[in-house]
Amino acid sequence: MTDLQHLIVHPGLSLHQLFVRMNEGRAGILLLVDEGGRLQRTLTDGDLRRLLLSGVALDAVELAFPPKAPITAPEGSSHATLLERMKQGGVNQIPLLDAEGRPSALVQMRDLDGPILLSTPHMGEDELEFVTQAFDTNWIAPLGPNVDNFERELAEMVGIGHAAALSSGTAAIHLALVLLGVGPGDRVFCSSLTFVASANPILYQGATPVFIDSEPGSWNLSPQALERALLEAEAEGQPPKALVVVNLYGQSADMAPILALCERFGVAVVEDAAESLGASYQGRASGTFGRFGIYSFNGNKIITTSGGGMLVSDNGEQIERARFLSTQARDPAPWYQHSQVGFNYRMSNVLAGIGRGQLRVLEERVAQRRAVFDRYQQSGVGGGLLEWMPEAEFGRATRWLSCGLFHAESGVDVQALTEAMARQGVEARRVWKPLHLQPLFADCRYYPHRHDHSVSDDLFARGICLPSGSNMPPEVQQQVIDTLDTSLQSARAQ
Ligand SMILES: Cc1ncc(COP(=O)(O)O)c(C=O)c1O
Repeated sequence: MTDLQHLIVHPGLSLHQLFVRMNEGRAGILLLVDEGGRLQRTLTDGDLRRLLLSGVALDAVELAFPPKAPITAPEGSSHATLLERMKQGGVNQIPLLDAEGRPSALVQMRDLDGPILLSTPHMGEDELEFVTQAFDTNWIAPLGPNVDNFERELAEMVGIGHAAALSSGTAAIHLALVLLGVGPGDRVFCSSLTFVASANPILYQGATPVFIDSEPGSWNLSPQALERALLEAEAEGQPPKALVVVNLYGQSADMAPILALCERFGVAVVEDAAESLGASYQGRASGTFGRFGIYSFNGNKIITTSGGGMLVSDNGEQIERARFLSTQARDPAPWYQHSQVGFNYRMSNVLAGIGRGQLRVLEERVAQRRAVFDRYQQSGVGGGLLEWMPEAEFGRATRWLSCGLFHAESGVDVQALTEAMARQGVEARRVWKPLHLQPLFADCRYYPHRHDHSVSDDLFARGICLPSGSNMPPEVQQQVIDTLDTSLQSARAQ
């Protein structure tokens, strides 16, 4: 869905001004409205050029466009209606009108055609400019001003001293563990309910992961289970070298008790905030609490550089060292000289340009994702069988993904449900399969929330993640709601 503010134009603008607006709007279309804001007609680049060719001066303001009924649809039109109108009219975007005939949104064919995906990239208006600057100045690779500025701008935004832009969030976790001196034989504690990328770097370093369960209030790391694990490790004389604590689906873990425990037992914290950029904990940005924090700009994240990550810390020396290690650890010598193992983990100047543009719309994206969640919640989807992921009172979640949990007695087979939804073109996913259940980590220890109850097993069995993109028009959200409700019937009957 496209932001309308740059596309709406009123009579009285000169032809030149319209060309400028067309150029700035980047949608290939302007929406000409009357004094009441009602849509009169759409204007294309061709409409403007034809006027120019017919002899109208660029500074003329009395512009007589031939009447042309715009192809529009009322707000709330179904996905199918919108697609049909676009196909009939031979257009690839369509303005939605409110009851008064005022444009309220511009829906793109690409947002409707094909399956509705879980979370897709959503560009703002500045990304292309930063990328173009990189091309114009030939700062294509490897580093350059976009990288420096992206690091500085992100650090300022989250309120931390230093940041290093890297090729992925996984690379950032890996470097954090390297910088903490994690090596063969060390134990590293890690949240169990997460994507495998949180724990793979522990294996890269030859260390041993130990998994910690979630607590039900935030779905994130259980301080209770952590304490048991730390006490046991201490009794065995093998305290962990580090803890990788994950902030799931856009919500922070309960950092205060976790940090207090880690302080008590002398454990360094790496905060995996790959999914929680834009969230807060007690008023402070998620990702800024550990010795190191990491963010991901993978294509499905709240903002993306198509692929990328960031390592952040208040320790400037360590971040400088991360930059050194991520560029093959080249010694300061006149030739290529290396005294230690390095990595090719740095972000390119082109991708950092995308990141700078995306950072400017982060707050907007948080609001949009939260609005998607609110809409699902208010719709009553799931017919009372679905309980939404709680938003813990200690902070603000971004609702990166809208997630819910079917009641234990609902009889819903979540796997069958996601498959039924996929057949109708809607991608919904199970909640992460906990790492302690993965064959890769079959030999690893696991500490459940309570001795007799594993919260993450339950979240995996009963949880679902729904399409949550910030670029989903209300019609598409409605389609998700309808599809879930119709698929639910078959998923319960089976
Ligand atoms: C919790 C978590 N940690 C780490 C990562 C790894 O980030 P990247 O894909 O940028 O390597 C991801 C996502 O991809 C993630 O969801």
